[in-house]
Amino acid sequence: MNTKKVLVAGATGYLGQYLVKELKKRGYWVRALIRNEQQKDKFESVDDFFIGEVTDPKSLKGIAKGIDWVFSTIGITRQKDGLTYMDVDYQGNSNLLKEALHDGVASFQYISAINGDKLKHLKIFEAKEKFVEELKDANITYCVLRPNGFFSDMKDFLQMAKGGRVYLFGDGNFKLNPIDGEDLAKVCVDKMISGEKEATVGGQDILSQNELAALALKAWGKPIKILHLPDWTRRLTIGALRTFTSSKTYGPIEFFLTAMAEDNIATQYGTKRLEDFFNQEVDRMKKE
Ligand SMILES: NC(=O)c1ccc[n+]([C@@H]2O[C@H](COP(=O)([O-])OP(=O)(O)OC[C@H]3O[C@@H](n4cnc5c(N)ncnc54)[C@H](OP(=O)(O)O)[C@@H]3O)[C@@H](O)[C@H]2O)c1
Repeated sequence: MNTKKVLVAGATGYLGQYLVKELKKRGYWVRALIRNEQQKDKFESVDDFFIGEVTDPKSLKGIAKGIDWVFSTIGITRQKDGLTYMDVDYQGNSNLLKEALHDGVASFQYISAINGDKLKHLKIFEAKEKFVEELKDANITYCVLRPNGFFSDMKDFLQMAKGGRVYLFGDGNFKLNPIDGEDLAKVCVDKMISGEKEATVGGQDILSQNELAALALKAWGKPIKILHLPDWTRRLTIGALRTFTSSKTYGPIEFFLTAMAEDNIATQYGTKRLEDFFNQEVDRMKKE
């Protein structure tokens, strides 16, 4: 048994679930933040549950008591709570940090995303990086990780490929190295142990968007059919969404469309291959 006591906030999410498993595998005592009793069913082995809402500071009182390390993967991805990035990614994490400081937590790890520090004009990063700045200024050891897209997020390409063609903006030559959740969880724990303060994290395979699209089509056994839309349609879409919809709607799309228009290459980690993930997902989807 490892002597450190760890809190995972975001434990119910894609990365959080892997993080809890990895920490338990290494013998840590783990407390998971959940929002309701039913979420307990998501876990095989956890030492303690804390029920609270990060957006409600009163509900977090005592969450960090006896805790040495906090990992937070809290953030809006596909949630439809009607809250903004500022409410959750910034304020929710800030509420958590206050509890950690109050109870003398030694280290706090926060998961932002690749290039977050360079793209603060996007709604998602305005909030995430505001929290990063607060964390860095606080009297606590910090670790900020900026991972590349998760394998789980690449499923959007698979969905498109199912229909036999994939649409890309521009020439499809920009590159990225997405990372698997299990591989990333190992890096999160390793970085906490090593005390590294900031790192970008990506997977083994550096793929162009064309290669990624081809893998998705191949997984469905479809011929390679990729349609390249002119880049002005991407810029026009972002502009129109910013003008006619609220940040809750355009935030995730603005992020995705901006990320697609540049290379996103992070330091390579892990062993999992996107091709294997796509094949497994297609097998799973065919059985549904
Ligand atoms: N997905 C990617 O490709 C990617 C890439 C780089 C960085 N990131 C960042 O990494 C972090 C984790 O991503 P993920 O894919 O694991 O996300 P996820 O599966 O959506 O998990 C997000 C976690 O945050 C919690 N959360 C969200 N809104 C909340 C709210 N209003 N109140 C309380 N809890 C809330 C969720 O709780 P519930 O389960 O109760 O909703 C969940 O535990 C996010 O901050 C994301 O922006 C993601």
